Amino acid sequence: MAHQWRGVIREYIDRLDIDSSCPIITLGEGGTPLVEAPALAKLVGAAEVYLKVEGMNPTGSFKDRGMTMAVSKAVGHGAKAVICASTGNTSASAAAYAAAAGIQSVVLVPEGKIALGKLSQAVAHKAQILQVQGNFDDCLELARDLSENYPVHLVNSVNPDRIEGQKTGAFEVVERLERAPDIHVLPVGNAGNYSAYFKGYLEEFNLGVIKKVPQMWGFQADGSAPFVYGTPVRNPETIATAIRIGNPASYELALSARECSEGMFGSVTDEEILWMHRFLSQEVGVFVEPSSATGAAGLLKQARAGKVPAGSVIVVTVTGHGLKDALWALKDENGNEIQPQSVSTRAEEVAERLGLA
Ligand code: F0G
Repeated sequence: MAHQWRGVIREYIDRLDIDSSCPIITLGEGGTPLVEAPALAKLVGAAEVYLKVEGMNPTGSFKDRGMTMAVSKAVGHGAKAVICASTGNTSASAAAYAAAAGIQSVVLVPEGKIALGKLSQAVAHKAQILQVQGNFDDCLELARDLSENYPVHLVNSVNPDRIEGQKTGAFEVVERLERAPDIHVLPVGNAGNYSAYFKGYLEEFNLGVIKKVPQMWGFQADGSAPFVYGTPVRNPETIATAIRIGNPASYELALSARECSEGMFGSVTDEEILWMHRFLSQEVGVFVEPSSATGAAGLLKQARAGKVPAGSVIVVTVTGHGLKDALWALKDENGNEIQPQSVSTRAEEVAERLGLA
């Protein structure tokens, strides 16, 4: 009989750090498609490239894998409220899982710098939202401070429960490919997801399921690339608002993941991100938010520098759904607004406009 996916905690209960007595707050997250992308493989000169399409999670991003763990354990500890700082996706996820758990969520977001779709999710799930006059890094500092001094449980990825849940993405890749990819590519902000995938692959390696861990390749936006510069960026800037982060929470963890996996960090321009955002929509058929195209954009940059080995099998995690930050799709490559033409209801006129007549 076909298997009905039960969410990452129930699917991987033996491999997650959670007591069997803990309540499970789930929205059915995980089990996302690994989509083969031959157009991207051809573009970068690799044997096989797959997209792990995390926009298919319940709130439209990979954050749900970690949030099911973090909110379940918060409830298990008796928490009545959770708090997070966010560039948008974490807040959407925290708000949804808190709603499912029947507890309050508080979210701190950088004023004017989060995509409308994400803000509407937090509002829809009745989070208490505050727009902070600062950037994500300021929001995180504030959230940490509040969680240390007031009765509210922190669900940012500095909470190890989040990383623990997110590592399941690697398990799913290995199950599906029946091997590890040679290279795993991700967009990087706080580097929580980069660290989580590495943790997942390392566990598979230690169990003898895979013969080697993939090289972990992480990409940031040029204006927001502390891993590339080797130092925090005080005023990060990029159109990829989800990864507009100057002082990554998982900095040390990610450096060690890079070293152990013989991986790398790189950065790309906003133009390269938007070009790849369009390529993934138009040539692969997968609509992601701009930030989510950063990994694939970095992969292309590496390919152009001759650094993608022919014959390699590559997985790229595309982290969030295109509808979250949809306005970018309505601009052409020159930044002009795209407006569908208006026509009458006459078939001949429509055929003519379509170039069919
Ligand atoms: N892609 C998307 C769509 C994201 O929302 C994020 C992070 C990342 C990539 C980077 O992941 O931080 O684990 O390296 N978003 C966080 C948020 C910061 O608040 O939603 P990371």
